[in-house]
Amino acid sequence: MVMKIQSANSLNGTIRLPGDKSISHRAAILSAMATGETRIENFAASEDCASTLDCLQDLGVDIKKENTTIFVKGVGKNGFSKPKNVLDCGNSGTTMRLLAGVLSGQSFDSVLIGDKSLTKRPMRRIIEPLTQMGASIEAENNCAPLKIYGKNPLRSISYNLPVASAQVKSCILLAGLNAEGKTKVQSPNSELQSPTSRNHTELMMRYLGAEIEANFIETEHGFVEEIFVDGDSQLNAKNLNIPSDISSAAFFLVAASCLKDSKIVLENVGLNPTRTAIIEVLRGLGAEIEIINLREICNETVGDLLVRGRENFAPSNFSNIISGELIGNLIDEIPILAIFGTQIDNGLEIHNAAELRVKESDRIKAVVENLRRMNADVEEFADGFRVGKSELRGATVDSFGDHRIAMAFAVAALFAKGETEIFGAECAGVSFPEFFQTLFKVMN
Ligand code: S3P
Repeated sequence: MVMKIQSANSLNGTIRLPGDKSISHRAAILSAMATGETRIENFAASEDCASTLDCLQDLGVDIKKENTTIFVKGVGKNGFSKPKNVLDCGNSGTTMRLLAGVLSGQSFDSVLIGDKSLTKRPMRRIIEPLTQMGASIEAENNCAPLKIYGKNPLRSISYNLPVASAQVKSCILLAGLNAEGKTKVQSPNSELQSPTSRNHTELMMRYLGAEIEANFIETEHGFVEEIFVDGDSQLNAKNLNIPSDISSAAFFLVAASCLKDSKIVLENVGLNPTRTAIIEVLRGLGAEIEIINLREICNETVGDLLVRGRENFAPSNFSNIISGELIGNLIDEIPILAIFGTQIDNGLEIHNAAELRVKESDRIKAVVENLRRMNADVEEFADGFRVGKSELRGATVDSFGDHRIAMAFAVAALFAKGETEIFGAECAGVSFPEFFQTLFKVMN
């Protein structure tokens, strides 16, 4: 699908965005592993999360859907049934990596497959720890399809994460629920006593009654987080309510901030501190974002965001070089941050973000190529890029089959002179099927 977008003057209104994709995957998987029935409200309307639900149904879990409310009948942590067919994870890395952890602890074998993009993504990072735990996994060149020979119980391990990845951490913790003894996952070094990747799995496991503990210890290179999960843990079904996805909100935060007459409210947004680096950076660089009605729902922090547009963004004291630990906590927001960079006086530079090259597309290449087509001042690095303040021109750009690229360039189109055409825009549905309708509703 080709989407045509014109420039805009402002965004106005109040919107409630779809449920958080990361939390929805975990809600579906953990409630399937629980004892009892769970009602999940505001479940993400995303193709990725639908892939997780389909796989769980193929594993014998009874799931009913009523719009964005879903009802899951838990089978217990090792009560899944051997699937009749391969399990299709579609475009979803989270589905594949988290389910690999679950399936490694079942007493049957199964096969996880994905689309063309997912089949190219690195899986060694989960194959290694799961093999140490006693599962056996066949994969060509460490990529999907993954043939998993499960084992129950698994061995508990102590594992140092080589990358700050929530998917890898969650995969091991989920496998740890079916291991003998306590499984330990240690995060990479950090300057701060805060998780280096999103911690939704830990928070939800604790909410559902699992024995899970997280401590920070000081080393000569800073802090490391040690997470322990007890294989004796049981999960007890408890209703869940999913906040709106801050990664989807990010497109509206940037669009509204840069269109001067804007005023929008984004309701019920997930504000877990491992996800709010985008707000910190945008505010640091001059955006006017107010958090109101801060509250806690099902162990997650939630609030409403009020965003006002600005005429211009003068240089601030906040560094316009984004690198180091901050990257892990805004990894999915970097494409839209690049667009923000084209609108601010000193531009933006991103480093230590080589992980972007193994996401749904090579996001560094995709951002740089599309920005060039729109006349931006941009330079590519192995681990990031630099964008200077630019007069964007409408152009023909490509989504590269990547939902976040399609949506980031829809926002770029609002700032550009002339019309922009986005090829392959339908992939926005991977995380946000109603993205374009929602944008068109609030733009003037
Ligand atoms: C996710 C973790 C991140 C993120 C992805 C969702 C998750 O990936 O980019 O969109 O739900 O755990 P990594 O864990 O590979 O960094």
